[in-house]
Amino acid sequence: SPPPSPPCSPPFLALISSTLLTRGHICPYSCLCPDHHTVDCTGRGLTRVPDSIPLNVRRLLLSNNWIPWIPSDFLVLYSDLVYLDLRNNSLSLLEPGTLSTSSKLVFLDLGSNNLTEISSGTFRESRSLIKLRLGNNPYLNMVGRDPLTGLTSLRELELQRNGLTALDVTVLESLPSLRMLRLEGNPWLCNCHFAKLFVWLTENRQKLPQGMEGIECSLPLDGRRVPLSLLSEDSFRECRGTLTLTDYLIVIFSGISVSVAAIMASFFLASTVHCFQRLSKGSKGDEEEGND
Ligand SMILES: *[C@@H]1O[C@H](CO)[C@@H](O)[C@H](O)[C@H]1NC(C)=O
Ligand SMILES: *[C@@H]1O[C@H](CO)[C@@H](O)[C@H](O)[C@H]1NC(C)=O
Repeated sequence: SPPPSPPCSPPFLALISSTLLTRGHICPYSCLCPDHHTVDCTGRGLTRVPDSIPLNVRRLLLSNNWIPWIPSDFLVLYSDLVYLDLRNNSLSLLEPGTLSTSSKLVFLDLGSNNLTEISSGTFRESRSLIKLRLGNNPYLNMVGRDPLTGLTSLRELELQRNGLTALDVTVLESLPSLRMLRLEGNPWLCNCHFAKLFVWLTENRQKLPQGMEGIECSLPLDGRRVPLSLLSEDSFRECRGTLTLTDYLIVIFSGISVSVAAIMASFFLASTVHCFQRLSKGSKGDEEEGND
C-alpha cells in the first residue's frame, strides 16, 4: 500500500513516487494486466507494439490488432517472455534474428498475418519453443530448411492455409519432438518433389489431426486438385528412378556434348590421317624420284 503523501508535496513528486512504487506493475495504456506477468492488449486497435510493457512480462497477448512490425530487439528486451500471441495482425516481414534470442519462448502464434517468408535464422535459439503457429498467412510460400532446424522441443507446428507449393521434407525430419502438424489448405504441387513429403505424411499420419483430409495437391499438367487420400505411393512411381527434369536435361546435354566431342575428335583424326597419308605419299614420291 502506498505511504500517505506529505501534505504539501507538489503534484509531480506524487506522480514520480507513485511511478516508482508501481515499478514492475506498469500496465501499458489501454491494455489489461490481470497478473504481474501477463499483459493483455487483445483487440485494442494497436498499430504498433505498445511502449511501457513491463520488462519482466511472461505472457504477452497482442492478437487482433494492426501491428505491421516488431522491433528486431524485441525479445532481447523481453527476455522472460514465455507466451507471445501476435495472431491476426499485419506482420509481413520478420527481420532476421528477431526471434532468435528467445530462449524461454514456449508458445508463439504468428497465425493470420501477412508473412511471406520465414527466413533462415528466424528461430535460431528458440530451443524451448513447443507450439509454433504460422497458419493463415496466405502469401507465405517459402519455409526454408534452416529456420526450423534447432527447434528440438517443438511439438506442434501449424502451417495450414498458407501459400506453400512445396516443403522440404528434411524440415520435418529435423524436428525430433514433433507430435502435431497442420498442412491442409496449401496449394501443393503433386510433383516428384512432393513425392517425398507424401511418403513422410503417409508414415506420420498420426501427427496430422485430420489425417490426409483437406490436404490436396494440384497436377502439374492441368492444375486439377487431387485429395491426398486418393493418392498412393504408386501414384508417384515415375519418381522412383529419382531422375528429375534437371537430371534429364543434364543427361541430354552431356549426351549432346559427348557426341559433339566425338564428331570433333573423329574429324581431327580423319584430317590427321589424311595429312599423314599425303605426307607419306609425298615422301614416297620423293623416294621414287631419288631412285630414278
Ligand atoms: C482480427 O482482428 C480484427 C481487428 O481487431 C477483428 O475485427 C477481426 O474480427 C479479427 N478476426 C478474427 C478472425 O479474430
Ligand atoms: C499482404 O501481402 C501481399 C503480398 O506481399 C500484398 O499484396 C498485400 O497488399 C498485403 N496485404 C496487407 C493487408 O498488408
